[in-house]
Amino acid sequence: MSIVKRNHEEQVFVNRESELEELERAFNSTKAGRGVTVFLEGEAGVGKTALFDHFSERLGPHGARILRGRCLYKDDVEPYMPFIDALEPKKTGPVMRDCLPVGLIGLRMEEEKEESPDIPVGLFNTKDADSRILDSGNVEQERERMFNSVRSSISNLAHSKPVVFFIDDLQWADRASLQLLHYIARHVRQAKVMLVCAFRPEELSLEEGEHGLLDIFRRMNEEKLSTTIRVNRMGRESISAIVQGMLEAEDIPDTFINKVYSESEGNPYFVVEVIKSLCEEGVIDPTSHVWSTMRDIEKLSLPGGLMDIVSRRVAKLDYKTKKILMHASAIGSHFEFKILQRALEMDEEELLDVLDQLIEMHLIIEEPSKDGEVFRFDHVQIRQVVYDGLSRSRARVMHKKIGELIEQECSDRLGEVVYILARHFHAGQIWEKGFKYSLMAGESAQSLFAFDEAQKYYLQSVECLERLGNDFSGGRNGVMQEKALLYLRLGELAYGSGRFLGAIEFHKSALELSKKLGDRGLEAEASCRIGLAKSQKGDYKDAEKDLDRALDIFTEENQHLSMALANRGLGYCHWRAGELDDALAHYAAAVESAQDAGDSHLLGTMYIDIGNVHNHRGDFENGLKYYNMAIEELEQVKDYSEIARAYNNIGDVHIQMEKWDTAIEYLDKSVQSAKKIH
Ligand SMILES: Nc1ncnc2c1ncn2[C@@H]1O[C@H](COP(=O)(O)OP(=O)(O)OP(=O)(O)O)[C@@H](O)[C@H]1O
Ligand SMILES: [Mg+2]
Repeated sequence: MSIVKRNHEEQVFVNRESELEELERAFNSTKAGRGVTVFLEGEAGVGKTALFDHFSERLGPHGARILRGRCLYKDDVEPYMPFIDALEPKKTGPVMRDCLPVGLIGLRMEEEKEESPDIPVGLFNTKDADSRILDSGNVEQERERMFNSVRSSISNLAHSKPVVFFIDDLQWADRASLQLLHYIARHVRQAKVMLVCAFRPEELSLEEGEHGLLDIFRRMNEEKLSTTIRVNRMGRESISAIVQGMLEAEDIPDTFINKVYSESEGNPYFVVEVIKSLCEEGVIDPTSHVWSTMRDIEKLSLPGGLMDIVSRRVAKLDYKTKKILMHASAIGSHFEFKILQRALEMDEEELLDVLDQLIEMHLIIEEPSKDGEVFRFDHVQIRQVVYDGLSRSRARVMHKKIGELIEQECSDRLGEVVYILARHFHAGQIWEKGFKYSLMAGESAQSLFAFDEAQKYYLQSVECLERLGNDFSGGRNGVMQEKALLYLRLGELAYGSGRFLGAIEFHKSALELSKKLGDRGLEAEASCRIGLAKSQKGDYKDAEKDLDRALDIFTEENQHLSMALANRGLGYCHWRAGELDDALAHYAAAVESAQDAGDSHLLGTMYIDIGNVHNHRGDFENGLKYYNMAIEELEQVKDYSEIARAYNNIGDVHIQMEKWDTAIEYLDKSVQSAKKIH
């Protein structure tokens, strides 16, 4: 057994040789250009983070570039949180700035903002996932393009030395992060990038339905993308070594070690907390080194579980200190001094004294940050215990106040804190603001292709509206109007992610509300979308009814673009049902409306549809005519992915005509167009 004394006072690192060896093997493979993904799986407090810390210390700053991102417990679900955390330039300094392309990953330091205000700040340089992308069926492609830019930035960082990217507490990751992780894991196999992800398996069964991580974990295993190191509880010898290391004493009675070992069941965090607790209670005097100062060991009462021991330490704090910790826990895993102080309305010096005391007790630590004075909880468990211990009404009051303070403090950059504000105002039951910021958070998540998070925020926004009821500034009708619009967005999102059944349900809710409101435009919009989703599900006859109803209203109201979309949907239904003449008639009407609306993109894509119908019929001449018309329109809007599709279909026609050379020529053009997509 090895015992390694660590830099800071009482911390030692014991055992874990085989786990470290396994990590080192993975790292050697990464160094040789064959990146790997390693999961560290183990219960709370068993030592996953400590294992990674020790491993990264061993690698040293010259061996690898270490990136660390955390997922946060019950915090703002900001999409891609661990990636933003790890790649933030404030943390990584100039190195990161030199390696990453401007406009991609958080790339500008604050001071640069004024020099070049037009370059977007933020993690992702992405085209907004607006309705057009959601409707076009290009969601996967667009998302992949965005993921690829993040992946290539990480790979670029690995050119000079291998990158070890650690994501801690993955059990709390948002779905978008899990998808990005899966994507990156697939692509690191030819890069000097090692991914290490720690998670608690026991938390995966707590969620209703299947936990997102379980799904990704299983798929990554099936694709042989990852290996798993199980971080197990420790044996008596290791526990004994931790106790000795902490107390810097060797003559510790066996009875005491046995008791701590059996109560802890080999969980090192439990041991560390028990010792701290006994020192705080004065049962052990850590400065005396004389073991005999201990009271009767046999009678010593130790708390029953990990949460108990943390609770017991917190419970012993005086009221003022506890209140400070409670406010901090409501702010988040990290908390800024200024916000905490204003939330507590406390004197600066007085608060600093208490924070110093909390640091000394290893309950919080100060975070290095250029952003002001930021603290965080020393261990995730501590925040978990304190936060979960808040009564609902107390939590509500705190969140309300914190939300208001952050809104004031960040009034010039509200867009950057929408997730934080959505959480505080929702939890603080300030429904109007909860509605506003949840909607903004949903929009922001949607623009980053984080559809699950976007859905969560839109639903939260609906909830806030319902809670507001008649108090909403727009009155009862205003609530219904906003809700209908939110349901349309939710339907759109579901449609864009291929969940057609869900899309139909959301649009039906919008339809119901539009009828209550007597809003014909909204009614038509919802009906049209229901029809489109049904047609994607293959219910063509049913879809026709909804689309017909929508078309009637759109025609009444002279809405050309919408008429084009409804007719296009009808054309598709008839085509799929084998009614080709009807299909062409609807497409012709759709073309007319799209021309009236002056929408080249829509026209171009519809010409492809029409070409397909002719092609289907064996009328190659007309097929080719429409594909060429499509290319002409699409060139104007530079939609290379659709242009590639048109060329591909021309190639296909030539294959059917057995004109092989021309087919190859057009398929090649299709490839050339696809290459222009960026
Ligand atoms: N090998 C070790 N040697 C000495 N102490 C350890 C060791 N592993 C863990 N510990 C102690 O146990 C505490 C908890 O470990 P750690 O934070 O790594 O657990 P974890 O598995 O990451 O838990 P969580 O799931 O809650 O994040 C650490 O603060 C450390 O003091
Ligand atoms: Mg941990």
